[in-house]
Amino acid sequence: MKSSLSSLRKRPRTTPQKTARNTAPPSVPLTVPLAVPLLDLRRQYDGIREDVLAAIARVCDSQSFILGPEVEALEREIAALTGAAGAVGCASGTEALWLALVAAGVKPGDSVITTAFSFFASASAIVRAGATPVFVDVDPGTLNLDAALVDQLLRAKRPENLRAILPVHLYGQCADMDAFDRIVNEYAKEFEFAIVEDAAQAIGAEWSGRGAGSLGVTAAFSFYPTKNLSAYGDAGIVTTSRPEMAEHMRQLRNHGSPRRYYHDEFGWNGRMDAIQAAVLRVKLAHIAEWNQRRRQHAATYDQLFADSGLTSNHGSDESGAPVRLLSRSPQAKHVFHQYVIRAQRRDPLRKFLGERKIGSEIYYPLPLHLQPVFSYLGLKAGDLPVSELAAKEVLALPMFPELTKAEIRLVVESIADFYS
Ligand SMILES: Cc1ncc(COP(=O)(O)O)c(C=O)c1O
Repeated sequence: MKSSLSSLRKRPRTTPQKTARNTAPPSVPLTVPLAVPLLDLRRQYDGIREDVLAAIARVCDSQSFILGPEVEALEREIAALTGAAGAVGCASGTEALWLALVAAGVKPGDSVITTAFSFFASASAIVRAGATPVFVDVDPGTLNLDAALVDQLLRAKRPENLRAILPVHLYGQCADMDAFDRIVNEYAKEFEFAIVEDAAQAIGAEWSGRGAGSLGVTAAFSFYPTKNLSAYGDAGIVTTSRPEMAEHMRQLRNHGSPRRYYHDEFGWNGRMDAIQAAVLRVKLAHIAEWNQRRRQHAATYDQLFADSGLTSNHGSDESGAPVRLLSRSPQAKHVFHQYVIRAQRRDPLRKFLGERKIGSEIYYPLPLHLQPVFSYLGLKAGDLPVSELAAKEVLALPMFPELTKAEIRLVVESIADFYS
């Protein structure tokens, strides 16, 4: 494979120069990285350290550690960011999914359609709500839940007691929400079901100018430390377009309790810590800029891959190119939670990158319908071929706002070396 990156490859790496007495600082700055982490949270922390520590001190001084004013302020700020009518802070993204499903009316005996290509919680939350996940394959370009296949399924054989469709905005790009709206509207007279967004990876993302989190009846976000907006521990939030559902979720996250020691229904302890809310509020002030930097990095990757001759057109899977990029929907404002390629000989490539100290990860190596715990659904290998092929090909490359152009060049250069 001829690579236009070869000039970069031949350039000697600059390393700290030893001086005569070996005490002076390096005379040449380190301009070419020798390793690239998949994610480096320390760089983010270095930029916001004082604000974060002040926010934590504020909570300690208040001695109010669970829910309270910090969580309420975060809820208002996230509702404003997403365009939702309300937001309810909770303990994790998984908890947020459960709240979102139950508030949307999912109950034991129901079915919920979702993607087979996501993190486990997208489906386990359905089970925890007492319902059965109905796995549908993904679009080969975006790897998001394929609305055409959902439509086909509803026409052929509607799942029993279908209560919701749960699309996941995978890697930070919204699923085709126009298509899901059309499906809901088409069946509205016959029976009712809700769209519940798994927006765990998509804070700040948009579909046709509308924020992720305001596109369904309810939506779940994760603030797990690797996410675009991340806590210093576990945390999540659920948003909704229906104020009455927000009230229900407030109750559910606190043992189904409308007032202390009185319980109307079985909820759970799904509350958010005030320290997490305070940290998240510091970071929220930066999220637009951080997401914008992620988009710039994605454009740099795209350009370098195109220059290298390694890639084909977005989404095309017939070119035989060693690397393929995922499709970008024109209606979607992507937040690149992950920058993911599809790679031939993915596992040897990953090993090669690891030897060069370049981080990468596979999201996800086994589709949900083939997870042993879902064997009771009776699906087998070959049933959802697009998800199954994606699981063998996807590779997430380093992506975080503080990543440098030199690091991105090293990643693409190394991939070009592997295929050369
Ligand atoms: C798509 C998706 N859904 C749900 C979750 C669950 O979030 P959490 O880890 O905060 O429980 C995650 C996070 O890993 C996720 O990526």
